[in-house]
Amino acid sequence: KLPDIDASKLTITRTQTPKALKKPEDLIFGRNFTDHMLSIEWTAQSGWAAPRIIPYQNLSLDPATCVFHYGFECFEGMKAYRSTVNEKPSIRMFRPHQNMQRLSRSSVRIALPAFSIEEMTKCLATFVNLEQRFIPDKRGYSLYLRPTMIGTQKTLGVGPPKSALLFVIASPVGPYYPTGFKAVSLQATSRYIRAWPGGVGDMKLGGNYAPCILPQLDAASRGFHQNLWLFGEEGYVTEVGTMNLFTAWITPEGKKEIVTAPLDGTILEGITRDSILALAREHLTKEGWEVNERKFTVGEIAKAADEGRLVEAFGSGTAAVVSPIRRIAWDGGVGGTPRDIMIPLQEGKEAGVLAERLWKWMEERQYGDVESDWRLFL
Ligand code: COI
Repeated sequence: KLPDIDASKLTITRTQTPKALKKPEDLIFGRNFTDHMLSIEWTAQSGWAAPRIIPYQNLSLDPATCVFHYGFECFEGMKAYRSTVNEKPSIRMFRPHQNMQRLSRSSVRIALPAFSIEEMTKCLATFVNLEQRFIPDKRGYSLYLRPTMIGTQKTLGVGPPKSALLFVIASPVGPYYPTGFKAVSLQATSRYIRAWPGGVGDMKLGGNYAPCILPQLDAASRGFHQNLWLFGEEGYVTEVGTMNLFTAWITPEGKKEIVTAPLDGTILEGITRDSILALAREHLTKEGWEVNERKFTVGEIAKAADEGRLVEAFGSGTAAVVSPIRRIAWDGGVGGTPRDIMIPLQEGKEAGVLAERLWKWMEERQYGDVESDWRLFL
């Protein structure tokens, strides 16, 4: 058996030129990076090499490297938080094992190697610990981590890469909505399809993101923030932009229901999605809400809006956490007429009550106001 990732073999080479910290208010998402990166090489012959933390630097890759030609790339998005609760300072990562598990699954899907979740999480914790001065001590701020796996074999032959690189970079980020929630408008899109049965929509592959930019520009040119991704003639609701989607409504039978698309292989298995489902089940079922993962259509949302049964809709993701939705423009489906679906928000606010509460419950656990096992302390 070839060597797996081994955190006890991790070496650290410190930078000679530490960066000056930016003012937290000046941070733009994904533009500033920390002093170091975590880098772990793999070969089919020798397995995983010793993990290295090295100064943040360019990669040097031959132009024939397979990542450039056939898209051998997958990644993660996750966050580390700094906070002081009851005078106790702490740094914590939010559910890192979940992200590492998903990265390993994505990697295997594109014929790249799996790795030990436990050992990789330990390396990640050491890396974040070293970079901790970059985590702003401010509510709403965090260190966004970008673990990335690429195929590095130099070949134009189409086959499983015989070498790979797993690297992690880190970027201090501010709140997605610095001045509070801004509810977004969506263009329901069926002309472009994000994912399909038997495809890779449930994997976090770079190749899933690039094809979504043109449809996003198309939506933006009509004044919308994002696409609402539909699937099939039925108009099944799948995701919004790069986020999972939740809808809250009263069903035609009069039940209070919070619903999101099921993990049928076309839906990204969001860790925020999973956390919101758990929080909704913990707190909202006792208020009479049913929390379901099942297929539903944009037509059902339109009907609920018409009949005054629509309560809320919002996206969920690591970057924005919760993103309330105010309006969906829809062409009406096969043989239908174009229309706008208006989604209720609280009077004078940019979010519904459920989105606001779920976001607060998420934040309380991310920063540790409320303890849970969704964290790894550094
Ligand atoms: C998210 O966190 O919602 C995302 O997937 C966005 C990320 C690709 C920047």
